[in-house]
Amino acid sequence: MFADKIVLTGVKPTGMPHLGNLAGAIKPAIDMSNEANKAFIFIADLHALNAVRDSNLIGTWTHEVAATYMALGLNLEKAALFRQSDVPEIYKLTVFLMNVASKGLMNRSHAYKALIAENEANGKDTDFGINMGLFTYPILMAADILLYNTDLVPVGKDQKQHVEMARDIAGSLNNIYGEELLVVPEPVIQKVAAAIPGLDGRKMSKSYQNYVPIFAQQKALKKSIMKIVTDSKRPEDPKDPDESTIYQLYQHFASKEEADAMRQQFTDGGLGYGDAKKMLFEMIDKTMAEPREKYYDLLAHPEKIEDVLMAGAERARVVAKETVDRVSKAMLGRIV
Ligand code: TRP
Repeated sequence: MFADKIVLTGVKPTGMPHLGNLAGAIKPAIDMSNEANKAFIFIADLHALNAVRDSNLIGTWTHEVAATYMALGLNLEKAALFRQSDVPEIYKLTVFLMNVASKGLMNRSHAYKALIAENEANGKDTDFGINMGLFTYPILMAADILLYNTDLVPVGKDQKQHVEMARDIAGSLNNIYGEELLVVPEPVIQKVAAAIPGLDGRKMSKSYQNYVPIFAQQKALKKSIMKIVTDSKRPEDPKDPDESTIYQLYQHFASKEEADAMRQQFTDGGLGYGDAKKMLFEMIDKTMAEPREKYYDLLAHPEKIEDVLMAGAERARVVAKETVDRVSKAMLGRIV
């Protein structure tokens, strides 16, 4: 389905992701990249700068995110995995795009508006704590996308508006300087992201503290799964699988047959929550054993991660340079 497409996605470095991210965003992005004609997956370290003030943290988190994609089977022949800041063409394209992106477009950003609303609610100056990195975030993100002639951008719902802004900005530039300059991208929204419940039944999220880290070690994994909140039904009582966090999580890791079997046992009654949790633990543990080992091995050998990121950047730069040269020629009459 994506065999002739260029797929790109950016991931902010935020440390080890959780199982909700895995099922909702990472796995679909990896699958899509592996099916695509070409894929670009990068760690958006420049985007982290508007909030993270500790360079060590950015470095560690970048490695953790890169190792996650490597451990989970991203096909590195097809996909260039790289760090945003290692492709210096991004700085040039961002400056070029600044001049066709309207301020009004930035004002409409949901993320920016939410911060303004929060400031107002707290009786602070509307622009309190808002730096220009944050305000112009959508322009840097547009540059990320447009630099690589991207057709499709797999993202969560929260990022849809940003991709639409990239379309808008590409459209403006093409309008002024020539229709063929930039490829206008499409967002591909990953719908399941919101449907993955955390340990307390609410959406799995770092901010709710109800998450399971993707590569939790066996003991920690078991402990968190045992903490899943359930109601007081007895083992013999019939239970609604669609209301059960255990089943909801299980079906993301199990085969269709295995998931159907648990579903049946829930509906018929006879499967207690304790046993169901044990099945869930064993399923996740089995699925994650190999990637987990790979992940920790990579983190213990950061030079292996760096090699991949450097090779990825080199490949990414070939396309990035072509794009920037094209835009530079159109806007300045020469290649800079
Ligand atoms: N803004 C995205 C996020 O917060 C990360 C990102 C940066 C991105 N550049 C991108 C996503 C380009 C897709 C395409 O999750």
